[in-house]
Amino acid sequence: MIQININRLLLTLWLATTSFIAFAESPAWNNAVNKPPTNWQGPTFKLSDQYPTEMPAACTDVTCPWLNIDLFSESKGVDFSDSSIPDWSKEPKYKDYITSILDYIKQGQTRDLNNDQGLIVDVDGQTRWFHIPWMAYAKETGREFVHGLTNERTAHLSDFYGVGGPSDGEGRGFETWAVGMYNDIGAYTIGQSFDKNGQPILETVNGITSTKGMPFKEGTVVVKFLFSSVTPTDVEYLKGSPKWQANRHKETSDNYDKCSRTIQDVHLVQVDVAVVDSRSPTRWVYGTYAYINNGGTTVWDNLQPVGLQWGMDPWTFPAVPKSESITARQSVLNKSIEKYEHFGCEDRLAGPVDNKLSSCLSCHAGAFANVDDTNPQMGVTIPPIFGFDGLCNQYSQENVNYFQTTQFPQAYSGGNYPNLLNLDTSLQMQIAVQQHAMFAANMPRECEDK
Ligand code: HEC
Repeated sequence: MIQININRLLLTLWLATTSFIAFAESPAWNNAVNKPPTNWQGPTFKLSDQYPTEMPAACTDVTCPWLNIDLFSESKGVDFSDSSIPDWSKEPKYKDYITSILDYIKQGQTRDLNNDQGLIVDVDGQTRWFHIPWMAYAKETGREFVHGLTNERTAHLSDFYGVGGPSDGEGRGFETWAVGMYNDIGAYTIGQSFDKNGQPILETVNGITSTKGMPFKEGTVVVKFLFSSVTPTDVEYLKGSPKWQANRHKETSDNYDKCSRTIQDVHLVQVDVAVVDSRSPTRWVYGTYAYINNGGTTVWDNLQPVGLQWGMDPWTFPAVPKSESITARQSVLNKSIEKYEHFGCEDRLAGPVDNKLSSCLSCHAGAFANVDDTNPQMGVTIPPIFGFDGLCNQYSQENVNYFQTTQFPQAYSGGNYPNLLNLDTSLQMQIAVQQHAMFAANMPRECEDK
């Protein structure tokens, strides 16, 4: 009897150790591209990857108050009368919706979002926020060790001041570094999607193959904090914006050395939010905040809502010819912001450091991947999320596809990318699946020799 129990114990221990080793060894779970130097005393990013293995409790009126706001009554986008055009200045519900999401996000965070504490993942004794695996694998753009930021689109002063404002000569521009987090309901899907080695787990439901756990369930909240190398000296309304350290690309006299990193400052410029809301024609509502100092006492008070988007406005140019175009009604924009703010294509929503010819959901609708694609090429093997010649400028098939309102499990519009995994608008999941493919095929990584 005793003997059997000991054997069982040994077996359990052996299994626990082997699974632990496998878990720890896969680069899927790396915190950052580089380890901090041994004398590093500053904050250090830790990947939050203990995803819930059971579906967390569903949303209630108290935990997801936005789901009680009737956002879509006029404007779901199927009514073409002008009375269906949402107006931020007339209807408080738009601001209420995005404010209730930000209220949820700021629970348990510091008032000043200081560098030392960064973003806190535990709220009320429970892990609220989780990160996507594999984002520390790409050496050029992958997570840095201070706050887990990844490198994104380079912005210019024209993004902050408009055309005709101060110019940075469109020289090297300002790098964007950002970190995204999913709440527990979103993290449940992430946890289902990968095994302990970080290999995507696929599942076919009703003939549609995706990673297991897809789509994200209602109650999912995603937030992304975007920082820029721009300073409050360059852009005065960033005064008081959180200043974080980041192990980011070395600046050279006229550009960035993308294979060398060093600790430099960045400032918060934009906060993106996204929630699953089954009433939406895309099943998602995306929204964004700009940091614009208006004398608020906390950082959160200086975040000004820019707008919300729940569809791609397929009846608005360039998804239709100009002569047939109607005013966008699947985005609602806060046009009362006193500082310059660029929006997206034809009054669809985009954020301060986003491409103004695109829009949140048009880009995110391209979140598709192939588990075996070791050389993902936009416009060839995966949808052209970052655009193409003529983006937003002319009525064309590419623009028609780019600005279609779709939802999981529909394929990417236009039929050009059949048989890809639909990752339900998550571009971080796309990166994870792609990085895994490159790792599994032992592909050389960029900057490998540095
Ligand atoms: C031109 C493309 C593009 C546009 C426009 C864009 N994003 Fe993203 N977004 C990305 C990419 C690429 C990622 C993944 C990279 C990362 O997070 O580091 C991402 C990540 C995110 C994430 C983290 C979760 C996820 O889906 O990967 C959120 C939330 C998000 N974006 C919200 C927004 C919002 C809100 C807007 C509009 C205000 C917006 N995005 C506009 C490309 C875009």
